[in-house]
Amino acid sequence: MSRLPRAQEYLKTGFNAEAASAARFRALAARAREEGRQRLAAALAELAAAKDELALVQYAAAESIREPAEELPAAIAAALAEEQYENESLYPRMIREVDAETGGVLSGIVDSQRAHAARIEGLLDAVTRSAGDIPA
Ligand SMILES: [Fe+2]
Repeated sequence: MSRLPRAQEYLKTGFNAEAASAARFRALAARAREEGRQRLAAALAELAAAKDELALVQYAAAESIREPAEELPAAIAAALAEEQYENESLYPRMIREVDAETGGVLSGIVDSQRAHAARIEGLLDAVTRSAGDIPA
């Protein structure tokens, strides 16, 4: 059997890990900014950008070994499916199992993500109808 599935899986794991690190460093930077520690905030924001880069390196590597290469519309459709899974299954299950305050936070995430999903659907529709860029 090909080693590609494991390579894909590990690159995806690395992508998710570094994307989460980037979000964490952005959150730390926001905290430092709120506390008036502007230079610390700037340093943490730089680290967040560096983590984003590491995520993108692994995303690109996963793309390059994917067979057949996934077109951008298919990749956007997969991202939309993931968002829909989160909204319809993942978050609702978590909301049922936590206290009301935490459930409220997670419900707010779902509300935002529903708007994101609608936006992504629109983008997917536009990018499917055109081989080039989407209309302005
Ligand atoms: Fe999401």
